[in-house]
Amino acid sequence: MFLEERQKAILAYLDKHERCSVQYFSEIFKVSKETIRKDLSTLAKQLLVIRCHGGAMIKRHRLVSNVTDKECITSLMTRYEKQKFKKLGDRMNGNVCILGSFNVDIVAQVARFPKGGESILAQKSMIGPGGKGANQALAASHADAKVHFVAKVGTDQFSQFAHDHLSSSKINSFTLYQSDKEPTGNAVIYVSEENGENMIAIYPGANLTITNKEIVMLESYLKQSDILLVQLENNIDAVLNAMKLAKAMGVKVVLNPAPYSKDIQQLLSYIDIVTPNETEASLMSGVEVNDFDSAKLAAEKIYSLGIQTVIITLGSKGSLVYDGKHHQHIKPFLAVPVDTTGAGDAFNGAFCASLAKGETLYQAAIYASAFASLAVEREGASNMPSHQNVLKRMANI
Ligand code: ATP
Ligand code: RIB
Repeated sequence: MFLEERQKAILAYLDKHERCSVQYFSEIFKVSKETIRKDLSTLAKQLLVIRCHGGAMIKRHRLVSNVTDKECITSLMTRYEKQKFKKLGDRMNGNVCILGSFNVDIVAQVARFPKGGESILAQKSMIGPGGKGANQALAASHADAKVHFVAKVGTDQFSQFAHDHLSSSKINSFTLYQSDKEPTGNAVIYVSEENGENMIAIYPGANLTITNKEIVMLESYLKQSDILLVQLENNIDAVLNAMKLAKAMGVKVVLNPAPYSKDIQQLLSYIDIVTPNETEASLMSGVEVNDFDSAKLAAEKIYSLGIQTVIITLGSKGSLVYDGKHHQHIKPFLAVPVDTTGAGDAFNGAFCASLAKGETLYQAAIYASAFASLAVEREGASNMPSHQNVLKRMANI
């Protein structure tokens, strides 16, 4: 077998089995261990595998600058619809695919929010990873799901920052596309020390440039996924096509409609579960949501748009789950909030992880509530608690 062919075969094997020994490949390909070691070193230099004692592991973390032509989204969907390909919804395996944003968060901690025209001194400032997509992917991986995350960044220095952050996280695999036209997204955030509340201005940049070809590439990950989780920080056509593809493949679709956009109308028929916060629920339903009763009304209105399950998050008041029959109030877990930025992201990621692992809607919402209550006690939107600590908090009530 030629060198190139052998290396392709090694990658294909590792893609499936994640890890393998030098000895194994040397026996399979009938070449010396030294030859295999050289192969693995070449692949490691290309950042495709990680060498480990006696062998290698696949590196599923890829920074991709160009996608070659592939089947178009419509023909792909038709193929799945014709095949009547359906995943077994009752056999959830804990796999969550997340398409979403990556932003660099520039955070100023202030005693109170400044008024228009006023300059104030910040008590603290930090630059860290963020973006609703990346935060939700991190939350889902901390909640012990197997996560594949897809996002798009620029070619600036922040793309490496994104890559380093995701590579060192618990996220199982990710694909980071790069735009040479738009910079990596960023968010300027004020966090008030008064109550941990925040104000955010987002510049989405490369997050708005996801192409159809890049969505087509989701197919292989969706095949293995129980749930697709999306938000509204990417271009709407990309979100729509990802949802359509997931639906055609029988994958459950969860939309966190944040930040709210009128474009959501186009997405309605592809949503299984929608998770607005109070503001987004008000805008979706036309009912001003500020307590559990108004949330009930809003959830009914949103349900009547054709969405089977509505979960409205109500900040420190907990959340409401509505499935067309029952309104269930998920009580908040007691927390001492330090920074509520990303509370919704923590909730969404943890909820999808729990649902994908086979929990009921109600149980998954309780788990997400406990998870988010721990997240608001930590500084930074991407600072997620561990699964063990969530279980402890749930056991303490
Ligand atoms: P953000 O936009 O800041 O990411 P959000 O508005 O999308 O947040 P929220 O509704 O504020 O999301 O919060 C999501 C969930 O987090 C709530 O449903 C609740 O379970 C939990 N949570 C938020 N704030 C608190 C708090 N102060 N105490 C306990 N739990 C909280
Ligand atoms: O939900 C919090 C996130 O919203 C921040 O990380 C910021 O990047 C914005 O996307």
